[in-house]
Amino acid sequence: MAIDHVLKLYSETIQSPYLHYGFWDDPKTIDTNLLSIEDIVNAQGRYIEHLASFIPEDVKNIIDVGCGVGGNAAYLKEKGYLIDVLSPDAYQEEFIKNKFNGEMKFFKTKFEDFNPNNTYDMILESESACYIKINEGFSVARRALREGGYLLAADYFVYNFEDQSPHLKSSHRMDEYLNTAKSSGFQLLKEYDQTENTMPTLDAALHFINRFIFPTAEYLQYSVQRKNPYIYRLIKSVFEKKVSKKMDQLDLMKSDEFRKYRKYMIYLFQKV
Ligand SMILES: C[S@@+](CC[C@H](N)C(=O)[O-])C[C@H]1O[C@@H](n2cnc3c(N)ncnc32)[C@H](O)[C@@H]1O
Repeated sequence: MAIDHVLKLYSETIQSPYLHYGFWDDPKTIDTNLLSIEDIVNAQGRYIEHLASFIPEDVKNIIDVGCGVGGNAAYLKEKGYLIDVLSPDAYQEEFIKNKFNGEMKFFKTKFEDFNPNNTYDMILESESACYIKINEGFSVARRALREGGYLLAADYFVYNFEDQSPHLKSSHRMDEYLNTAKSSGFQLLKEYDQTENTMPTLDAALHFINRFIFPTAEYLQYSVQRKNPYIYRLIKSVFEKKVSKKMDQLDLMKSDEFRKYRKYMIYLFQKV
């Protein structure tokens, strides 16, 4: 992968050091129509704080797999852990190099292709587990961990796969993930369902799209149609189907749809 442009877009617009959903302690009390970008970035800070509470005491060195733009790594480094990071993404490589003045060891590779030359106490996969092929991921994790080492994964998994929904794509099946962990020699020590703690971010994003993106797109459409009807018809004929497919993807932003198919889990495994 050269550059994941969706993640790059998030990074450049939200300007947060994190690329994950964030964690809301008290989701029921939040009016998601009123959330600011700062609120979301704060929730993202809280996410790594909460996730780090699952790190066992005998962990000193960690590899942050799918490190994004380094917010989690910076937090853990600050807490005194020895951190290496890994990502296949060229934009993130450059970003991390600048952020840590070249002092953070960066492996530019997919985790599936990683050839570890030393072992770690823990692998962190913060919202990156769903990108990593299940079998290969656990097999490399075994090689990258010392005996008794840990894999801490936080990500969303599909638990209901009966209907058709975009939610079934780009996530692992929960049962398959857990079964493969077991058959690959990983014992599940802890699990935590943080679905509700993550959903306000999704609701806020949908609110933003409905309030700003759709009216702006509608205005642009009106404007082009009025000033250049020929170009408008041309664009419409070329892009109509693609736009309609993208609109289907909006289901991904609906928290009720998310809940129907996915759970956002934290899993702590130990290599046995
Ligand atoms: C949603 S971002 C999460 C970033 C970061 N962990 C965080 O919590 O802010 C997913 C990350 O996984 C990385 N990624 C994608 N495919 C990967 C793979 N096959 N192996 C390792 N990392 C991968 C992406 O480049 C990105 O860094």
